[in-house]
Amino acid sequence: MTRISKVSAVEILDSRGRPTVYAVCQLDSGHSGSASAPAGASTGIAEALELRDKDGTRYAGLGCLKAVANINSEINQALAGKRFADQTALDRFLLTLDDAPDKSRLGANAIIAVSLAFCRAQANERALPLYEHLAQFAQQRPRLPRPMINLFSGGAHAGGQTAIQDLQIVVPCARSIRQCLEIASDVFRAAAGIVAEQYGMRLLTADEGGLAPDFASSDAMLSCAVEAIERAGYRPGEDVVLTLDVAASQFYSDGFYHIDGARLDRDGMIDLIDKWRAAYPILSIEDGLQEGDWDGWRQLNQHLTGVAMNLGDDLLCTSPARIQRAIAENACDSLLLKVNQVGTLTEALESLRLARDGGWKVVVSARSGETEDNWLADLATGWAGDYIKVGSITQSDRLAKYNRLLILEALHGLKLAH
Ligand code: PGA
Ligand code: ZN
Repeated sequence: MTRISKVSAVEILDSRGRPTVYAVCQLDSGHSGSASAPAGASTGIAEALELRDKDGTRYAGLGCLKAVANINSEINQALAGKRFADQTALDRFLLTLDDAPDKSRLGANAIIAVSLAFCRAQANERALPLYEHLAQFAQQRPRLPRPMINLFSGGAHAGGQTAIQDLQIVVPCARSIRQCLEIASDVFRAAAGIVAEQYGMRLLTADEGGLAPDFASSDAMLSCAVEAIERAGYRPGEDVVLTLDVAASQFYSDGFYHIDGARLDRDGMIDLIDKWRAAYPILSIEDGLQEGDWDGWRQLNQHLTGVAMNLGDDLLCTSPARIQRAIAENACDSLLLKVNQVGTLTEALESLRLARDGGWKVVVSARSGETEDNWLADLATGWAGDYIKVGSITQSDRLAKYNRLLILEALHGLKLAH
């Protein structure tokens, strides 16, 4: 049993310069742990709610002082002096404090920060590396996830100049994290060179550190990625493949997908995805359709089965109920797992288990708003994610996670997933 002596919080700033929540959990044993909450820009409708101050005189209303005050007062009063057997006991107790289904009373940003800070405190108390403690919690054998590394962004993560939100590269030929990053760096440099030549700009980067030139179309983005892979000396489709976060909800309105100057209905969008798939080496399509179109997702799944992962982010929001529905209806075949979408580690673990029981692949993902905190690398390793999606290799909020993976590989003897 772990006895909490105090939880406290501070408002800090994330990679977009927006406020977020940093929590500290102190234990009677003298150990402590801290963690900061990430934040999305293209959030799904079913996500747990970040509590923002809505005080227009500070940070355009995005302040987190209310969420911080909730930790320092109500949550601290409820937790201080209490004993918890494990993470699940703590998280279940946190859920009783906020009876709003979307955690909007205390704030999902407050709750996830406390859930993670307690996890770190327990790992420290047990003298275990965080990944090992998380692996034991999930009863998983830890292994390093294969990175999906951001090359280009558009949509809500850049200036909206292209509809596709993120294009990532995956390096299937690499045998280690070190090699993944070396090859990704070659491709990124080649892409930056092409962007400089064709768009006259150098390293103008988006929210997750990817390049964000004014591509004329989705095809221009995809073909530029293939050109970068070739220019760097690798074989597209063999050494390096592509993954797309289409984030289709972001450009869906009035019943149509507004992309590349066209107005597509559901069938038109599925046709477009089929064309991309036929023309480019695409491993995975995330949020290819908008989050409310379950019939469309079933149709898309039939098109992608056996040819590419059909990855649900906004569709699923890491929600156990939505994952169960997606499995029952054959709506997709992979989970994008973001713990702050659901609000506690225990609920996220339930989502992971459901996905695994359904035979799905799991991509553990950062948010577009991140901090220097690196817990995500330990989570993805401890929970044996197939992939980790963290962003590009140009910003410390992203590199904090890649660097942690490099350290786990070199000093803890962990191996990369196949
Ligand atoms: P978000 O983007 O953090 O802005 O939601 C990440 C994603 O859509 O995968
Ligand atoms: Zn997404």
